[in-house]
Amino acid sequence: MESFLTYDDRNMRITDAERRSVRKAVLEAHMRIEKARVRGEREFLDLPFDLRSMTAIARAARRVQKRFTHMIIVGIGGSDLGARTIWQALGGSKATLTFASNPDPESISHLLTSIDWKQTAMNVVSKSGTTLETMAIFMVLRESLIKEVGTKHHAEHIFVTTEPSPDSPLFQIATEEAYEVIPHPLNIGGRFSVLSGVGLFPAAVSGANVRRILAGARTAETERRERKCESVAARFALNQFISMTKYARTNHVLMAYADLLSQFGFWYRQIWAESLGKVRHGVSIGPTPIAAIGAIDQHSQIQLYNEGPDDKTTTFIEVERFRRSIRIPKVWGNHEAFDYIGGLSLERILHDERAGTEHALTMHHRPSGTLRIHAISPESLGSLFITFEAATAYMGELMGVNAYNQPGVEEGKREARRLLSR
Ligand code: PA5
Repeated sequence: MESFLTYDDRNMRITDAERRSVRKAVLEAHMRIEKARVRGEREFLDLPFDLRSMTAIARAARRVQKRFTHMIIVGIGGSDLGARTIWQALGGSKATLTFASNPDPESISHLLTSIDWKQTAMNVVSKSGTTLETMAIFMVLRESLIKEVGTKHHAEHIFVTTEPSPDSPLFQIATEEAYEVIPHPLNIGGRFSVLSGVGLFPAAVSGANVRRILAGARTAETERRERKCESVAARFALNQFISMTKYARTNHVLMAYADLLSQFGFWYRQIWAESLGKVRHGVSIGPTPIAAIGAIDQHSQIQLYNEGPDDKTTTFIEVERFRRSIRIPKVWGNHEAFDYIGGLSLERILHDERAGTEHALTMHHRPSGTLRIHAISPESLGSLFITFEAATAYMGELMGVNAYNQPGVEEGKREARRLLSR
């Protein structure tokens, strides 16, 4: 089977004996995950195989494309970051997407002055249907839409992605106002939802190839199920777990050498932080995810990673082939200073810089691993998403925490509501 993602963990500075000592725990974690999945409790791992929902999503997307050239996605956290990641990495030629997640009056007023509502649809995404930031922005944008197209026609522009549950106020509103609903899967938390309509409806609207995203995710998930402890997801989790528990390396850097994966870094930060930063038997535990971009952060963060506290792991994402190639011209024959790069390609520079950074970390006895994708493609992105979701599941099991709740987030939501209701 073709694989869209490989993992080189030779420089993780973990011995075979250490790996063997945790192997049984990883196998048990795998069995628990699989049992839960079969019981229907880890539905995010089955999303890559859910082609029926995809047909409905593709149909809704075609309806948007027929009438609009632009869609605004209103949502936050897991209801925002996955779709943003796909849009940044893959783009699309059918419609442009704009994301509104922060109730920052300056960015929202900038958005308001730039919308042509006649050409624009809006997708409001909230699993709970109650989130303060999302609903505040939606209420502001909806008013602007109604001013422009009238109450009677405004519903034709609005899509709502939420749990189709009578408890969701957003679902109630959607029903009353006749907004089209894209169902948010009931048992899947926001940060694990990118491969459902939450991430894939906006992607399909933009014209990204969602079937290929799912195909890539299916390949990685099949590899996980077949190879168990030897899968990329399980090995990644095992390395991070040993690094964290045995060597106190609690800061987990993900450094992609590709600008178009910077949003992926933000998506990773959420799933790793919100799932794994928990209180276990009264003790606060969890890794701190850090998103970095190569080569930019070589000139910003690498000093710290090489010589600062030895409390980090670094995982590179390397793109083997970029979709464009640019050659550096040979110029200034009378100056030798830049002879070494004249005639080389820009991608060669990124590749060698990543290898150089890996080497420097190794020289400083700092662990690193490399996730390698052939290209930034729908398949590799799908593989990356499901692999990190599964790795999060393994980490949660190994750490003995519930990776699927977020009591700390809910506390903040309640407190904000209390302050605003005064
Ligand atoms: O992953 C999560 O559960 C959270 O980040 C949520 O996605 C975020 O709080 C937004 O919640 P909702 O989708 O209910 O608006």
